[in-house]
Amino acid sequence: MQASAGTPVKRVIGNWKMNGDRVANTDLLAELKKAGPWVAEVAVCVPFPYLGDVALSLQGGRIAWGAQDCSAHESGAYTGEVSAAMLAEFGCRYVLVGHSERRAGHGESDQLVADKAKRALAHGLTPVVCVGETLEQRDAGQTEEVVKRQLSAVIHTLGPCIPQIVVAYEPVWAIGTGRTATPEQAQAVHQRLRQQLHAATDKAARISLLYGGSVKPDNAVELFAQPDIDGGLIGGASLKAADFAAICRAAD
Ligand code: PGA
Repeated sequence: MQASAGTPVKRVIGNWKMNGDRVANTDLLAELKKAGPWVAEVAVCVPFPYLGDVALSLQGGRIAWGAQDCSAHESGAYTGEVSAAMLAEFGCRYVLVGHSERRAGHGESDQLVADKAKRALAHGLTPVVCVGETLEQRDAGQTEEVVKRQLSAVIHTLGPCIPQIVVAYEPVWAIGTGRTATPEQAQAVHQRLRQQLHAATDKAARISLLYGGSVKPDNAVELFAQPDIDGGLIGGASLKAADFAAICRAAD
């Protein structure tokens, strides 16, 4: 759906993480194609080796696709890395950057995440910039400070291109734990992120702010009803066609 000047596009993006196989993926995508279309823009971010298959399956349809990471470098001697240019070649519309599993497990700094977002934009991809606090940070009252710092690096690095990103707020303690932030907790952080974006650009109202962390069909409606929650980044539930389809519907 095309957003008007001051309204963000509603989006639901599946993050398959390191799951799937070629047969299961084919079934999942076939079911999803049957379940749609939705008003919200829907995409799946899949492991790199499946991009060719997924592009073939989804091309010409309403479901977009993307990857879960990209290199901050353009090309060259970076063994194991995948460039934004390569993702663009496979028709990706999105790439996740700064997912907490990469920040924590691969030592990705705020600046590296920002550099990845910049590289993605340079190749016509929409970076989905993930931010979020750990349980320790929340308990220490540092939530706002942490997400602000994470988003700041991206704002400073992208400058006037900032309206082209999507932001996903994913409290680390809610990811894969079955423990969702309450709609009020999520909205409070989204509101702060929106304020931060307003200070950086007059187009902040158009930037999609997604919530992620144990979103399921039974909590999606309430989460997506919050004024600053424009859809979701969905992990576990994106692997089940019926659940993912119901979550997509909840964003319509
Ligand atoms: P979850 O994951 O929905 O399984 O909690 C969300 C994410 O990590 O993107």
